[in-house]
Amino acid sequence: MQGHAQLSQSGAWPGASLLALRGAPADGLRSLLTAARDLVREGDRRDPHRPTLVRATIATAFFESSTRTRVSFTIAAQRLGAAVVDLGPASSTSKGETLIDTCRTIEAMGVDALIVRHEQAGAAQSVERALRASGSSCAVLNAGDGRHEHPTQGLLDALTIAEAHGRLDSFDLSGLRIAVVGDAANSRVARSDVAAFTTLGAEVVIVGPPNLAPRSLEALGCRVEEDLDAVLSEVDAVQMLRIQFERAASVASPADHAAGYQLSAARAATLRPGAVVLHPGPMNRGLEVAPEVADGPRSRVLRQVRMGVFVRMACLEACVGAAQRSG
Ligand code: NCD
Repeated sequence: MQGHAQLSQSGAWPGASLLALRGAPADGLRSLLTAARDLVREGDRRDPHRPTLVRATIATAFFESSTRTRVSFTIAAQRLGAAVVDLGPASSTSKGETLIDTCRTIEAMGVDALIVRHEQAGAAQSVERALRASGSSCAVLNAGDGRHEHPTQGLLDALTIAEAHGRLDSFDLSGLRIAVVGDAANSRVARSDVAAFTTLGAEVVIVGPPNLAPRSLEALGCRVEEDLDAVLSEVDAVQMLRIQFERAASVASPADHAAGYQLSAARAATLRPGAVVLHPGPMNRGLEVAPEVADGPRSRVLRQVRMGVFVRMACLEACVGAAQRSG
């Protein structure tokens, strides 16, 4: 994957962009997670502001709907002292301009990082390639590209699981088994999660009906199972996924899906002691997860959201720092 080739001697995140976690080196992931962990520890104690990017301007370019990721990146950039501009949904792509032209135009105004969300897989990578071709060192961070990847989500999920299982010193997740449940086929979160968890040493099992969790996903380096009840008692964490109806996912009926795959209170009761429940949001309560589980003692859903800001601060510092050094 572009941008992963030149791993620095120190094991720092390679390059000025964060496009995907699949194929990324383990020590690159660990350096981002370690930086995020330190920010969490500091931020849990006192004011999490730290003015390391005061001279930077960061643009959020979300061509697909988003609440938490856009707000989370914005808060992260503001805490680092950067100026943030938001292209908003009514950007000039709605007047026929290509994504690449829009991003090159914004970059030409003097932007240090572009945070891109787009319905097409590979969109952020195409933006990065176009910017590099025109000599720009602007950082590009992928905030979700179609069904492909959502790298900051994969990192924040890994951080949340590492915290829950006392692995914050090493980020070595070996010995842990993690289930990713539901609409994995249409989920960029699933792909980034599998990449992050397996690179850090965990075993991953994707669970869902064959149309949402086809066997072909085993190519990602995980197991695929159909029977959620058979899997729950053997895992240390469960990531529940939203059904991506906007990406043409189909279920027989919401009730049938819930019967087979909802993390209900009865199912959650079969989890091991210490096992935690995650969801990237937005949650469809009563479909993939029961409200009492989403709000229950095993739930780490709001911790994920909080961790997300610190993860994005760490990613912005690493990428913008690298861009400024090479610019
Ligand atoms: C996810 C996304 O957009 O990929 N949401 C998020 O960023 N937290 C997951 C989803 O939409 O289901």
